[in-house]
Amino acid sequence: MTAGAEDSLREAFGLIPGRDCTGQQRRGQGVQGGYASPMKAALYRHNGPAAEVLQVEEIERPQPGPEEVLVRVRASGVNPTDWKTRSGMTPRPIDGFQIPHLDGAGIIEAVGPGVDPGRVGERVWLVMAAVGRRWGTAAEWTAVPERQAVPLPDGASFELGASLGVPALTAHYCLFSDGPVKGQTVLVAGGAGAVGHFAIELAKRAGARVITTVSSAEKGALAEKAGADLVVNYRAGDAADQIRAFAPAVDRVIEVALGANLALDLALSRVGTTVVTYAAESADPVLPVRACMTANVILRFVLLYGVPAAALERAAADITAALAAGDLTGLPVRRYPLDHIAAAHEAAEAGVVGKIIVTP
Ligand SMILES: NC(=O)c1ccc[n+]([C@@H]2O[C@H](COP(=O)([O-])OP(=O)(O)OC[C@H]3O[C@@H](n4cnc5c(N)ncnc54)[C@H](OP(=O)(O)O)[C@@H]3O)[C@@H](O)[C@H]2O)c1
Repeated sequence: MTAGAEDSLREAFGLIPGRDCTGQQRRGQGVQGGYASPMKAALYRHNGPAAEVLQVEEIERPQPGPEEVLVRVRASGVNPTDWKTRSGMTPRPIDGFQIPHLDGAGIIEAVGPGVDPGRVGERVWLVMAAVGRRWGTAAEWTAVPERQAVPLPDGASFELGASLGVPALTAHYCLFSDGPVKGQTVLVAGGAGAVGHFAIELAKRAGARVITTVSSAEKGALAEKAGADLVVNYRAGDAADQIRAFAPAVDRVIEVALGANLALDLALSRVGTTVVTYAAESADPVLPVRACMTANVILRFVLLYGVPAAALERAAADITAALAAGDLTGLPVRRYPLDHIAAAHEAAEAGVVGKIIVTP
């Protein structure tokens, strides 16, 4: 993430430069109060391999500052961005130490000045907890601006709540940036991935017909369970023909690998088809400009860190409504205790199937 994108997100969530308990402004930190009791947390002080830099320590617990809530974390979700940031692949400044993980879920235990005390006891899912601050969710407690603690409906587990933040918000923004998808045909590349999974479920909830691609039968079963109307193995030589037999063209593509899949996407496009890319491959693709012109296709790129606040809040509200309606499910969960966080990161880096949850 670029510094500009991080600043934009902090601004989007109304964060202002933080001060510690001595009143000194902290470099690179959001609003946060002083320290109280101890807590167990996973943290790193330098970028590097998981087993080398991740440690579990007892540190002082954050107190909620103005407009913040203190959350007892019950589940902490691991995303690719967490290990990419930790490893240094997409580094961010470390202010002394960094507790990893943007996503999590738990219960509000205390509120800072300016927050309705009635929120104490509320079950919440967390959005972007570690952005611009050191208090990620891989700890017993975290403090976040209250707008980043979204009500978690009673029927939804903490593990599902901790699976939502980055993947579901990304899926939502990719899907709906160009308007409603009701009655449209949506192609979700990689439908058993974390973003792909929620893209399928949100598109189905919104009334779309959903086609998805996977690379194995195991992943195909997950995509079917999520509600995809057609599941195709993208490694099959006739993937385009299989899809065209089901639908002559698609209206939206939610794309995880533009370079690998652009030929397929163009083969399935019609005038106005939008291809929304949210992931960078190890090498940038060379864009076949004439083929894109000929297809009259629209290319869109999304990075969650820079999405405007209003869109994120709309997405979070819609995701919560989908949860309450029982329209969102989780991928199979792989659980790791906090003490085994390095193994959790290694599993995530290896691309294991399912959702990795760390339990503080
Ligand atoms: N822009 C953003 O704001 C944003 C937000 C979230 C995630 N991301 C990025 O998006 C990527 C995916 O994130 P995630 O959390 O969904 O990861 P994930 O759970 O590991 O899922 C990635 C999925 O992509 C599939 N895939 C890989 N190559 C493919 C191809 N050529 N065609 C179709 N599917 C393919 C993988 O399965 P197979 O390899 O078996 O096909 C896997 O199921 C990561 O690089 C992440 O950093 C970006």
